[in-house]
Amino acid sequence: MASDAKSALRSRVAVRLEATAGALASAAADLVLIPCCEGESAPVGDAKPLSKALAPLLNDRRERGEFTGKANQLSLAEPQGVASAKRLLLVGLGKRSAVTAETIRRAMGKAAGTIKQLGVAHIATPLFGPGLGKLAPAAIAQAQAEGLLLALYDFNLYKTEAKPPLKSLTRATWVVGDKRLLPAVQAALERAAIIADAAMLARDLGNHPSNVATPSKIAELALTLSGELKLRCTIMERAEMERLGMWALVGVARGSQEPPKLIVIDYKGGHAGEPPIVLVGKTITFDTGGISIKPSENMEQMKDDMSGGAAVLAAIQAAARLKLPVNVIGLLPATENMPSGTAQKPGDIVKSLSGLTIEVINTDAEGRLILADALTYATRFKPKWLVDIATLTGACGVALGKHAIGLLGTAPRLIAALKEAGEATGERTWEMPLWEPYYDQIKSHVADVQNVGGRYGGVITAGAFLSKFVGETPWAHLDIASTAWIDEARPYTPKGVTGVGVRLLIEFLSRQRPGKTKPGGKRTTRASR
Ligand code: BES
Ligand code: MN
Ligand code: ZN
Repeated sequence: MASDAKSALRSRVAVRLEATAGALASAAADLVLIPCCEGESAPVGDAKPLSKALAPLLNDRRERGEFTGKANQLSLAEPQGVASAKRLLLVGLGKRSAVTAETIRRAMGKAAGTIKQLGVAHIATPLFGPGLGKLAPAAIAQAQAEGLLLALYDFNLYKTEAKPPLKSLTRATWVVGDKRLLPAVQAALERAAIIADAAMLARDLGNHPSNVATPSKIAELALTLSGELKLRCTIMERAEMERLGMWALVGVARGSQEPPKLIVIDYKGGHAGEPPIVLVGKTITFDTGGISIKPSENMEQMKDDMSGGAAVLAAIQAAARLKLPVNVIGLLPATENMPSGTAQKPGDIVKSLSGLTIEVINTDAEGRLILADALTYATRFKPKWLVDIATLTGACGVALGKHAIGLLGTAPRLIAALKEAGEATGERTWEMPLWEPYYDQIKSHVADVQNVGGRYGGVITAGAFLSKFVGETPWAHLDIASTAWIDEARPYTPKGVTGVGVRLLIEFLSRQRPGKTKPGGKRTTRASR
């Protein structure tokens, strides 16, 4: 039953992205995209040379109210002598003043939907810039390519019935007017391919069911990827966790037949000795709730409770492929959360790696338990910055809905950097306060701390709990519980697992500057708090 693709856990979008200098009118493709802004009579960017030829078509469509350039609007047309391609697809970008990278990703995502339906094999697209918003040509090309690739994603590894041999997109050509921009556009397309592939790796991992994507299987995949990219990867087994005293992590794994794994991946792109950025991702391969068992409605969605770990794995392998000049360590505490005769029970008290004792009031608040030990372990690497990402609380959806990642932490500069990366990638964050009075809610009568904080402020009390395990290390926490899964497709995100956080983390890592070299060869980094 295991095909090659399936044993590698991957469903691939294989589109060749290329850039050429030349005229859009003569591009030999099945379909050409024509980007337009709302309220403008001519197309934008490198489609501008077609303005005159397109004027009658655009006027006609506008008069009929069929296409005005509104964001995400699409309209198919015959080439009518304008271009040698077989079809034109008008793509709306909305008001010019409001265009951002996210607008472009969405518009390309919408266009990808039509491209898929039509079974088009080769498209040509103008670069949507230069001269569009404040975006550099490379940023525009990257956003275009990301939107296209991410929208083409389809998780169908378990459909045994052969699909009708619908042609699918295999080639996309960027036609660039200014030859001098070619190298930058080409590099941007390569970057986009790596980034989109990373997001799709995370989607794949989340979409695979828990009987396939077990902690062992994810560890195996991490080892394979690390082998390909020459990263150091080690898998810590249960015996070692016990020897070190990671009883919070081991406690969660007690109910499961699947052995827990602590996956450690090490990418050294920065100077030797430069403090790493450590990323910790919650990797619960299935969350039943344990003895505090969840209701069965929608429980199947808890196969994505490893989305934080998937994001970390995906971001690190992308950092390596992009050769980012930064040291990154990824930690994936991986286990199931199951009820059984050996499972931990409400009221149990476990001693964490930090030495703090935890009263497990609710076995369904398991993410913070495994993260507690992983975060303490992370501090051993003396990180410049420590970031965890987790599908941690249902309360996140109550507080922020499905369009924001919960963010909190102890390091203002780190928090600011994550916010900026979120804005740039459309994976936006919203900060919540980590004020002292919230800590009262997680006081235990019998242990140092308890793992739940009651009805109110669930994202914050979970964060407050985590903060107890990071010591003085500058740390931030991303709660992706409400953004990791969507029931309705979005322009470049099919329904199901979204791969949220991957692009944010890659952007965050991309913005890191290498530490300065002191005379005498000693490396330093800037103060981080
Ligand atoms: N994995 C869940 C959080 C979650 C809920 C993610 C819904 C996605 C959708 C987490 O382990 C959990 O169960 N959290 C509990 C915490 C509570 C017991 C304090 C929750 O949010 O209900
Ligand atoms: Mn849970
Ligand atoms: Zn969980």
